[in-house]
Amino acid sequence: MYGLVNQAIQGLVTENFGKDRWDLVRQKANVKQESFLNNEMYEDDITYRLAGAASEVLGLSLTDVLISFGKYWILKTAQERYGTLMQSGGDHFTEFILNLPNFHSRVMLLYSDIKPPEFFVEKKSETAIDLHYYSTRPGLTDFMLGLVLGLGELYRTPITVNITADRRNGAPHDVFEILIHNP
Ligand code: HEM
Repeated sequence: MYGLVNQAIQGLVTENFGKDRWDLVRQKANVKQESFLNNEMYEDDITYRLAGAASEVLGLSLTDVLISFGKYWILKTAQERYGTLMQSGGDHFTEFILNLPNFHSRVMLLYSDIKPPEFFVEKKSETAIDLHYYSTRPGLTDFMLGLVLGLGELYRTPITVNITADRRNGAPHDVFEILIHNP
């Protein structure tokens, strides 16, 4: 994945736990690079090793690390570095989710070699959406959950998210049922 993903893991760990802990995470993950270039491609395995090492070093479950990472991505990385791009996604939570299937085609203007996730959105009512997530990569279900929860916080929209189909349990792809409490 592009280096901005690993940069975000570095930011999450450093800002919340300090540089020393980040150095430990890096060592445990056996990652030689001291920093990453946002627009350079790195092996996916580096990202997985960093997330696994963060879980061990910080004493958090991998689920908690991935959810925190998803929230950090939306609330810090995307806000601070890609504000205009995020604004183009919509003016409120529901609009952003409905536009999500097209979002990474705009990201591709910045990062042309991206292998993006794919989404299909089913609006079941004013307060319920099924978000289908398709990925060539395994293990990112909880990252997606964190991203959606982060969007809820960004738009100050109270939501509940239920994973109603889960690749970890043999489903062909993940489905997130999003219940909006304040549409
Ligand atoms: C400023 C906003 C965003 C940027 C710049 C961005 C960029 C990227 C990049 C560069 C990757 C790595 C893929 C690769 O290198 O092949 C990625 C992956 C991913 N993005 Fe985004 N993204 C943004 C917002 C979002 C949002 C809002 C969501 C969903 C709510 C999302 C969901 C994902 C997921 C799930 C992946 C993992 C890849 C996979 O499933 O295979 N992203 N994104």
